[in-house]
Amino acid sequence: ELPGLPDRFGRTATDLRISLTDKCNLRCTYCMPAGGLDWLAKEQVLTDAEIIRLVRIGVDLLGVRELRLTGGEPLVRAGLVDIIAGVRRNHPDLPVSLTTNGLGLDKQAGALKQAGLTRINVSLDSLHAQTFAQLTRRPFLDRVLTGLDAADDAGLGPVKINAVLMRGINDLEAPRLLDWSLDRGYELRFIEQMPLDADHGWTRDNMVTAAEIRAMLEAGGFELSPDPRRRDGAPAERWQVRRSGAAGTAPAGTVGIIASVTEPFCADCRRTRVTAEGRVRSCLFSHEETDLRALLRGGAADGAVAERWREAMWAKPRAHGMDHTGLGDADYVQPDRTMSAIGG
Ligand code: GTP
Ligand code: 5AD
Ligand code: SF4
Repeated sequence: ELPGLPDRFGRTATDLRISLTDKCNLRCTYCMPAGGLDWLAKEQVLTDAEIIRLVRIGVDLLGVRELRLTGGEPLVRAGLVDIIAGVRRNHPDLPVSLTTNGLGLDKQAGALKQAGLTRINVSLDSLHAQTFAQLTRRPFLDRVLTGLDAADDAGLGPVKINAVLMRGINDLEAPRLLDWSLDRGYELRFIEQMPLDADHGWTRDNMVTAAEIRAMLEAGGFELSPDPRRRDGAPAERWQVRRSGAAGTAPAGTVGIIASVTEPFCADCRRTRVTAEGRVRSCLFSHEETDLRALLRGGAADGAVAERWREAMWAKPRAHGMDHTGLGDADYVQPDRTMSAIGG
């Protein structure tokens, strides 16, 4: 039994999320500024070999049981397929998933599957070209949809779709997004907007809450009932949905709601994160980071890297402080990094 990555509050991290790049080819308003950010220089970013080694240390010495690759946009990283293949060689049974905006999947889906990728989550906030362009500041809806077709063909499922609802922009599309996802066989998750945007434009009033989302889906013709499956530390609360009345044709399925702000799941969090430049973040909302890159590049043994990682996770904060149950609004201070530089 490995000692793993415990913290002071009785949680143990088993899900590793590694950001492969801080770069992205979209500029979602809830994440990036219009002009992009100052990207990391190449030598600051962990190499393919360093990432593969970190995963091995996580799995072999620290009890990591699942890997998710994130960004920025992970598909823009040149070594992505090699990283997945390298991880897969070391860990034949490790679930390895990818969170992507879908741009480039049209070309890469087959190779990713072949390299050993288990499944993907794709961000998609709107099915209207104009709204998509307004939200992401790029006119690429068609390319995302082509990417999804390629992912289906490659067998990269079950695919999950992530949608952030923005009041007055895409919120009225919620039932339509669900209809479409059910038709396509995707598990849609709506995400409450979190204050992790570069422009610091988040306000509590503008955030579309989980309760509002449920009400909108019900008003849009869906019946929701709690999904009896165990939640198991997952951020999304799942609901079984079916069309009410005779009106609809969409098959039954599930929808998830990730209510990080109004119904936080910090108490059950099992995540440990590593940024593109090799720093451990114990929480999405951490203000502290622990560098592993200097150890990796300085000839440290695996055990020493593991020990530093363990210390970083021991300091994981209890909660983010945005909820009403704990520390209260006043205690929440937005981290300097945006979502794109943390990795979702
Ligand atoms: P699976 O359910 O295993 O497919 O993965 P996931 O939902 O954890 O992964 P994904 O990268 O798709 O994350 C979906 C969203 O959950 C992210 O965009 C975040 O908004 C939110 N999220 C992920 N991790 C955390 C976390 O540690 N804390 C909070 N508050 N939200 C998170
Ligand atoms: N709040 C909630 N979700 C966000 N994402 C990016 N920024 C935010 C935010 N401020 C989501 C994206 C993507 C995932 C990686 O993170 O929509 O699905
Ligand atoms: Fe890129 Fe994802 Fe941020 Fe959108 S949310 S700008 S796709 S990193």
